[in-house]
Formats: sequence, C-alpha cells, structure tokens
Amino acid sequence: MTFSAIPGASDAPAPAMLPKAELHLHIEGTLEPELIFALAQRNGIELPYADLAELRARYEFTDLQSFLDLYYANMAVLRTEEDFADMTRAYLRRAAAAGVRHAEIMMDPQAHVARGVPLATAINGVASALAASEAEFGISTGLIAAFLRDLSEESALSVLEELLGMDAPIIGIGLDSAEVGNPPSKFVRLYDRARAAGLRLIAHAGEEGPASYVTDALDLLGVERIDHGIRCMEDTALVSRMSAEQVPLTVCPLSNVRLRAVDTLADHPLPAMLAAGLNVCVNSDDPAYFGGHVDDNFAQLEAVFGFGTAELERLAGNSIRSSFIGLERRTALLAELAEWVRARD
Ligand code: ADE
Ligand code: ZN
Repeated sequence: MTFSAIPGASDAPAPAMLPKAELHLHIEGTLEPELIFALAQRNGIELPYADLAELRARYEFTDLQSFLDLYYANMAVLRTEEDFADMTRAYLRRAAAAGVRHAEIMMDPQAHVARGVPLATAINGVASALAASEAEFGISTGLIAAFLRDLSEESALSVLEELLGMDAPIIGIGLDSAEVGNPPSKFVRLYDRARAAGLRLIAHAGEEGPASYVTDALDLLGVERIDHGIRCMEDTALVSRMSAEQVPLTVCPLSNVRLRAVDTLADHPLPAMLAAGLNVCVNSDDPAYFGGHVDDNFAQLEAVFGFGTAELERLAGNSIRSSFIGLERRTALLAELAEWVRARD
C-alpha cells in the first residue's frame, strides 16, 4: 500500500474536463477587470474607478440593463486590434481549461463603431486570435456578429452590409442587448438579408422578454437557435413545439441568477426544461461579469441539482450537436464525449 504525503492527493491523473461546445458567449463579456486596467494603461485611458476593488464593486446587477450599462462602458478600453486579440486569447486560454473544444463567439460590432473604432479593427483583432485558436488551444471556433436590438434596423443593416463588403469571417448573425420593447419583428429585413447572404441565424429571446418573442424569433426571423429562451416555459404549446422540433436553447444559468431573471440557481428552470425534452445546453454568456465560465456553470448545476453523468452527457452532447461545425469535427467531438463518459464509468 502506498500513502500520499498530501492528504487527499493521489497519483491518479485528474479526470479530464467534460468536452463541450460553448455556443453563447459574448467576447466583450470576457473582459476581466484586470485586463480592463491593463488596457486602460496601455492606451492612456483614464478609468472612472480608482482601483480594481472600486470596479469590482460595480458588479452587482438588478436586471439586464444595469449590466449592459457597465458592459458597454468597459468596452472603452478596447481601441486597437491587439486589444481585441488579447481579450480573445485570454478567453480561449480559460475556455480550454474549462473543457471547451468548440466555441461560437458573438461580438457586438455596433458597440465599437459607435465609439469611433473602425469595424475592421474590431473584427480583425478578434478574428486573428480565433484563426490561431485550434492550433494554440485545441478549440475550433466560429464568429457571430450580434446586432444591438435597441438600435434601429437601418443601423444593423448598414453594419451587416459593411461586414459583407469586407468579407468578414463571420458564420452568422445574432440579436442581443435590451430585449423588452425591442421584439424580433423589428429585424425581419435584417434576418432576410443575412439568410440571403448564406449566414446562420440565432437571436436572444425569452431572457427578460416574453415567450411570444421566442415564437417570433422562430417564425418571423427563422432563427436556428435561441439564446436563453428560459421564458418559453410560460407557454406550454411553445414548449411542446420546441421539444418536437428540438430547437436548440443556449441556456446560461449563472447569468440568469446575476441578472435576476431567476431568484436563485435552485429556482432555475433548467431541470424542468430537460424534463420537457427541450434541446438545452449550458453556456457562460458574459463570464467576467456573472461569476464564472462554463465549467463553473456546470459545477454549480452539479452541486445544486445533483446532475450526474447522464445529465452532463446530454447537456454537452446537445452543445456539440447544436453547433454549426462540420460533420467531421462534430463526429470527433462526440467521440471524445463518449470516451469521457466511458472513462467515468
Ligand atoms: N449582451 C451581452 N450579454 C447579453 C445578455 N445576457 N443579454 C442580452 N444582451 C447581451
Ligand atoms: Zn447573451
């Protein structure tokens, strides 16, 4: 018999992380306070916070808008391609440690253009880090341009045309920012244009907005995936339909707690969504703001709901199957997941 010098330590290799895809991630929401200060210093920007503690004290949110106010304000430090690339690489490094093997990453081009940052600077910075991701971090990636639904459809259309004109390496479009009062019906022409350009279509719906926004995102915009969608649970006919059609829902439990869409994690509808047969997966949304990355979301779900191998396999499998990756990579990642399950048995 051998004894370890350190109580609790063993020679057994640490169990590999659950292999998964992250499908709901705003790259600007990965900007950590430390990086905000470092970029501010590099760019000679004076921040309205004396120190990290003062910035961190602002991370108490009452709803989506209270978060968005800080999220947009903090973007002021992103000025150069290098800034966008550094932010993206920091996310990819952390995501690799979380077991992310494929990431479909949203960015908010309008939020940067509105600050006077050229579209090409923002796109090229993020895209350059993504281009090296598979070799550097083992994570395949796709970039999605998300449009701010509190701005006009004309603004979104003009930025989309600019993205298409510069041949930006995007795989799809999304819709984010302040949901209530900005329904999917406002963006029908935007989605028609993106579809005609061969782009994949997703949208936030049913985060703070009603279940009817989920229905409209599906029927008016023709989206292939719903971001959040938790309020679909208020419409039983919609739940039946989404279960039958296996519409993917990219759920972000810690985000929903921090933005007060639910009171506590124990109140989160994820177990009910699974029980209803919905195609749900777990994501981090804006990990620098909501208390953790996707592995932290999984860890808290395991702790609060007692999720075991079966739930973890289903959630990770859904993330891989709901991604926009090609068949070969999808098959390889599903095989990795099967191997992870086998090793746990
Ligand atoms: N932009 C960044 N995170 C968001 C969220 N959770 N909902 C809407 N817009 C967002
Ligand atoms: Zn989001």
